[in-house]
Amino acid sequence: MPLPDPAPDTAALRFPPGFHWGAATSAYQIEGATAEDGRTPSIWDTFCRTPGKVHGGDTGDVAADHYHRLREDVRLMAELGLTAYRFSIAWPRVQPTGRGPANPRGLDFYRRLADELLAAGITPVATLYHWDLPQELEEAGGWPQRRTAEHFAAYAALAGEALGDRITRWTTLNEPWCSAFLGYGSGVHAPGRTDPVAALRAAHHLNLAHGLAVTALRSVLPAGAEVSVALNAHALRPLTPSAADRDAVRRIDAVGNRVFLGPMLDGGYPADLLADTAHLTDWSFVHSGDQAAIHQRLDWLGVNYYTPTVVSATPEDAEPARADGHGAGGASPWPGADRVGFHQAPGERTAMDWAVDPSGLYELLTALARSHPELPLMVTENGAAYPDGPGPRGSVDDPRRTAYLHAHLAAVHRSVVDGADVRGYFAWSLLDNFEWAYGYSRRFGLVHVDYRTLARSPRSSAHWYARVARTGVLHPPGAG
Ligand code: FCB
Repeated sequence: MPLPDPAPDTAALRFPPGFHWGAATSAYQIEGATAEDGRTPSIWDTFCRTPGKVHGGDTGDVAADHYHRLREDVRLMAELGLTAYRFSIAWPRVQPTGRGPANPRGLDFYRRLADELLAAGITPVATLYHWDLPQELEEAGGWPQRRTAEHFAAYAALAGEALGDRITRWTTLNEPWCSAFLGYGSGVHAPGRTDPVAALRAAHHLNLAHGLAVTALRSVLPAGAEVSVALNAHALRPLTPSAADRDAVRRIDAVGNRVFLGPMLDGGYPADLLADTAHLTDWSFVHSGDQAAIHQRLDWLGVNYYTPTVVSATPEDAEPARADGHGAGGASPWPGADRVGFHQAPGERTAMDWAVDPSGLYELLTALARSHPELPLMVTENGAAYPDGPGPRGSVDDPRRTAYLHAHLAAVHRSVVDGADVRGYFAWSLLDNFEWAYGYSRRFGLVHVDYRTLARSPRSSAHWYARVARTGVLHPPGAG
C-alpha cells in the first residue's frame, strides 16, 4: 500500500488508507458459557481443573461473559472506532467433540456476532483455532496424532461453509508454536504434556492442519475471501556477538520460527532443525506429500509480537531452560536447544515481565517483507499487560499501555515507510480476559472488566486508540 503524504504536522504519522484498525480476542479467553448450547469441553477446561496448572485455580467458565454480551461488546467496538475485529471460533462449540456434524446453536452464536459486526461496519476476522482443542480429540492422541490434522480440515470446511457468507477473512491457527511447544513440550499450557518428541510431532501436525485447512476453506469460501495464519515469530537477539551466542539464535530461530515459516512459506523443514533434533526423532511422521499440502499460498501472514527474546549459549552442565514468556513448566519448550539460555531484554517491563521494545516488531516486519516481498502482513496481536483499574472518579487511566501502543504503532509505520506491506494492526486485547496459565491475574484490555459485575470500562488507552483508528494518524506522544 502506498503511503499518503505526511500529515501537516510533520511529526504525525499517517497510515495508508484502508489500513485495518482492530482489536483481538479469543474464544476461551472471553466467552464463558463453556457448558451452554451444546459446547463440549476443550483441553483448556480440563487443564484449568488440574490442580496447580492455572493461577488461582481460575477457569474460563465465565471469563468476560462475552457469549451473553456480544451486542454490548460490538457496540463498544463501534464506539472505539474499530474497523476490524479478530476473534476465534471455539471448535467444541461448533463441532462438539471435534468430529461429526455441526452444532447449529454454536454456529448461530458466530452468525449473530458476524451480523452485529457487519451492521456496525466492522470487518470480522475469524481464527479457527486459538488453542481450544476438543477434549475428546486430545484423548484420541491430540496434536501429536496425524488424525487431528484431518479432523481440523473437516472442521475448517464446516465452519467456512456455514459462516463464509458473512465472514470472508479467515486465519487457520493462532500461534501454533504455543500449541505445540507449550502444550506438549514445557507443559505450561493445555494439555500439559512434557514430551519433546510429542511436541515436534504436534508442530508437524499443526503445519499439516494449517495446509489442509487452507485448501478446505478455499474450496467453500466465496472468491475474494482471504486466508491466513497468525504466528508468534520470535524477534531474536544474541546476548553477545560471539559465534556461540549467534548459534543459540540460529537454534531458537529454527525451533521457534522456521519450524512453521519453512513449511508454510518455503515448502520444507530447515535442514538445521532436522539436524538439531536428530537425536530425538527421524521426523518419519512427515509423510510424502505433506510438504506440498502445507505449502499453500496465503493472502496475508499474521504476526503476533510482544517482546524480543535474548539468548546465549550455556555451559554443557547447565539446566535446560524451562520458561518462556508464558511461564515455567516441567520441561523445556525448545527441543534440540538444551544448551541455550534465555535472558531478560533491557528496558521497562510490563506486568508479564516482558521488556517493552518496539524495535523487535520493526525487525520482524521488515525481515518478512525482505524474505517474502509478495506476502502482505498484518499485526494480528500486540499489546501490554498493566493492572490499572478504575480511579476514584471511575475513569481508568493506563498511560503505560498508551505509550506501549504508541511506540509499537510508530514501529509499524516505520516498517511501512521502509517497504513492508502491512495491512492492519490488532491490539491485544479488546477486553481484560483469561490469560492462560496466569488466569485473571494479568490484564491486557483496552477495556477494563470488573470480574465481579462484568462491567466494562474503556481505559484511557481505548479512547486514545479510538482517535488513532478514526483518523489513521498517529500524533507525537502527548500531542493528543
Ligand atoms: C499470545 C496469545 C494470546 C494472549 C497474548 C498475551 O501469545 O495468542 O491469546 O495470551 O499472548
